[in-house]
Amino acid sequence: MYLIHIKSNIRDYDVCFSKNGAFFDELTNLPNNLFIVDENVWRIYSQNLLSVLQQKEVIILPIHEDLKNLDTVQKIYDQLLEKSAKRNLTIIAIGGGILQDIVGFVCSTLYRGINWYFVPTTLLAQSDSCIGSKTSLNYKSYKNLIGTFYPPTRVFIHVPMLLSLPSEFFFSGLGEVIKLHLMGGQESANVFLSIRDRIMNLETDALEQAINSALNIKINFMTGDEFDLGRRNMLNFGHCFGHALESASNFEIPHGQAVVVGMLFANFVSLRRGILSQDLHEFLKREFLMPGLIIKLRSSQLASNKIVEGMKKDKKRTGKGLTLIMLQDGFEMVRVDNLEEAEVEQGVEFLKELFL
Ligand SMILES: NC(=O)c1ccc[n+]([C@@H]2O[C@H](COP(=O)([O-])OP(=O)(O)OC[C@H]3O[C@@H](n4cnc5c(N)ncnc54)[C@H](O)[C@@H]3O)[C@@H](O)[C@H]2O)c1
Ligand SMILES: [Zn+2]
Repeated sequence: MYLIHIKSNIRDYDVCFSKNGAFFDELTNLPNNLFIVDENVWRIYSQNLLSVLQQKEVIILPIHEDLKNLDTVQKIYDQLLEKSAKRNLTIIAIGGGILQDIVGFVCSTLYRGINWYFVPTTLLAQSDSCIGSKTSLNYKSYKNLIGTFYPPTRVFIHVPMLLSLPSEFFFSGLGEVIKLHLMGGQESANVFLSIRDRIMNLETDALEQAINSALNIKINFMTGDEFDLGRRNMLNFGHCFGHALESASNFEIPHGQAVVVGMLFANFVSLRRGILSQDLHEFLKREFLMPGLIIKLRSSQLASNKIVEGMKKDKKRTGKGLTLIMLQDGFEMVRVDNLEEAEVEQGVEFLKELFL
C-alpha cells in the first residue's frame, strides 16, 4: 500500500493504493461505521471482495444521474435517522462519481459534517473526482448546481475493481485521464503514450500508473486554489465545449467522451489563433484524442446554435465573450474569455468533417 498526501484547507487527507483490497477489513472495524454502496458494485462484489460487509450495516444506493438530487439526500437522512445515526457516525462510500457526490453532500451537511471514507470504483472517480473536495447535486435541469467542499478522511483505491466497469464508463473516465496527462506537459503526455495500449487492454499496473500520475497532475493544478478561483479553472480543459455538447445531446454522450471532443475543439481554436502548431495539433488528435473516443456523433448533436447557447451558460464564464481553456505549444494551458460565436461555428465545422 502506498499513499499520495493531499493538502486541503478543510483537512489534509491521503489517497491509499491497495493491490489486494485488504483495507475493506480495516474499514469494517472502524467504530460506528455504516457502508453506502453503489447498487451495481454491490451486485458484482457482495459475494467476494465485499463479503466482509455481509454482517455490517449497508445501504445500497440506486445509481442514476437523475437521482443525484436533494430528494435522494433526504431519503438517506431518513434512513440514517431511523438507524439512530449520531454525530460520531463514520460513513464509508463505495462507488463512482454519482455515489461520491450524493454521499459526500450527505456527510458534509448532516450534523454540519460527519466523518467519511471513500472507495472510488470507476476510472473517473479513481483518477479524478476522488480528490478535490467537491460534492455536487443536480437541481431541476441544472447539473451540479448545488454543492459543498468536503473531502473524505481517506480515499482507498483498489484498481482491479475497474475490470468490471462497462466500457462506456471506462472510456468516459479515460477522457479525463487523457486530459490530465496533456495538462501535465510533454513529459506526462509521453508517459501516457508509452502505456496507452496497455491501459486500453485493462492491464492493472498500467492503469494504476496512469491513475497515480493523473491524481498528481490534478493536485498540481489545485495547489493554492482549492476553491477554484484561478489556476484550478484550467482543469476545465475540454469542458467548456464538452458540457455544451453533453446538453445538446440530452446527456446521451458520456461526460468524459464529451470532454475529449471538447479538447479536439479547443485545439482547433488554438491552431486557428496561431498558438498551437499544425504538427502538435495533428499529433494530439492522432495519438491521444481519437484513440480515446468510442462514441459516434450525430449531426443533430453538433448544432452550433445549441452549443453556443450551452457555452453561454458556462459557470466559469465571467465576461461578455465565451470562455475557453486552451492548450498551446509547449503544453502550456491558457484561458481566454473572448471566444467568438464565429469561432465556435468554425470549430463545429471542423468536428463535422472529422466525424460525419
Ligand atoms: N465531485 C467531483 O469532483 C466530480 C468530478 C467529476 C465528475 N463528477 C460526477 O461524477 C458522475 C459520474 O461518475 P462516474 O463516471 O464515476 O460514473 P457513475 O458513478 O455514474 O457510475 C457509472 C456506472 O458504473 C457503475 N459502476 C460503478 N463502479 C463499478 C464497477 N467497479 N464495476 C461495474 N460497475 C460499476 C455504476 O453503478 C453506474 O452504473 C457525474 O455525476 C459527475 O457530475 C463529480
Ligand atoms: Zn470532467
